[in-house]
Amino acid sequence: MNVIRRKPWALPESEATPEDMFWNRRKFMTGIAGGAIGLTAFGGLRGTANASDDPSAGLYPVPRNDSFKLDRELTEEAVASTYNNFYEFGTHKQIARAAQALPIRPWTVVIDGLVDNPQTLDIDALLAKMPLEERLYRFRCVEAWSMAVPWSGFALSELVKLASPQSDAKYLRFETFNNPDVAPGQKQSWYPWPYVEGMTLAEATNELAFMVTGVYGKPLAKQFGAPLRLALPWKYGFKSIKSVVRISFTKERPVGLWEAIQAKEYGFWANVNPGVPHPRWSQASERVLGTGEHRDTLMFNGYAEQVAGLYKDLQGEKLYM
Ligand code: MTE
Repeated sequence: MNVIRRKPWALPESEATPEDMFWNRRKFMTGIAGGAIGLTAFGGLRGTANASDDPSAGLYPVPRNDSFKLDRELTEEAVASTYNNFYEFGTHKQIARAAQALPIRPWTVVIDGLVDNPQTLDIDALLAKMPLEERLYRFRCVEAWSMAVPWSGFALSELVKLASPQSDAKYLRFETFNNPDVAPGQKQSWYPWPYVEGMTLAEATNELAFMVTGVYGKPLAKQFGAPLRLALPWKYGFKSIKSVVRISFTKERPVGLWEAIQAKEYGFWANVNPGVPHPRWSQASERVLGTGEHRDTLMFNGYAEQVAGLYKDLQGEKLYM
């Protein structure tokens, strides 16, 4: 993610590392030094917390819901778990090791705002309550890279049911933890922390909206946004907020962190559309993480059948930015 004019927090374009260069540089570094972050044969991170230490480890793997099919190979775990955006831990992709500092127990999620059942949920109690399943989803970052991942979790609509929204609730506002002691990125005061994202209630109750608690048949590793993140696979990846601590039902449209910084580039809707370029690059195609293959980007990231209807009466909105 970059912003249009050079701001104190922004990399100039020329310093951003394209993914293939990133991997070549990594190979070079691991070849010489044994690697600061070594990849094991299983694709995990050496020297970092193991997902089996997570108290929810016994819940996984969960049954796969076969209604969600992929048109491509899954991204290798070793690749997806070492190329992440999680600005709380740094503005580059190699945050996996730093993210291990995030304490994920105890962890509570507050549900508040315009609901009949406001509550504070302990993550393990929430996991015990929800029908967990695995879904294979495509994931398309606004930076024009993509992956395909086996998320585990539950439909966001289940959580909406639990909250029981009142009739004037129109939006959901999601918030990430705010703890600069463990997340050095949050010491950078030019970002409006905590990370916030939002969607309409209609989007939240669409069958695709998914609360993620695991990946690759295990509890979610910290760099993916443990212990609870969102997956909205028809939208650009920045909408899929990580490490959620609060979900508020609101009347007003929430303003996300990226929208607050640069609304012209990162808007509220952010639906994937290959025909609408980002102000600084084309969105027509995407680099597939790990393989380096370039593929044509699909309308709504391939999920038009499920979500196009959500937007038919919203043509005046900037739906694809
Ligand atoms: N959530 C938080 N809290 N902080 C972030 O920096 N980055 C977003 C999104 N969710 C981000 C976040 C962006 S830009 C992307 S592309 C995805 O997380 C990356 O998810 P991944 O690291 O699992 O691929």
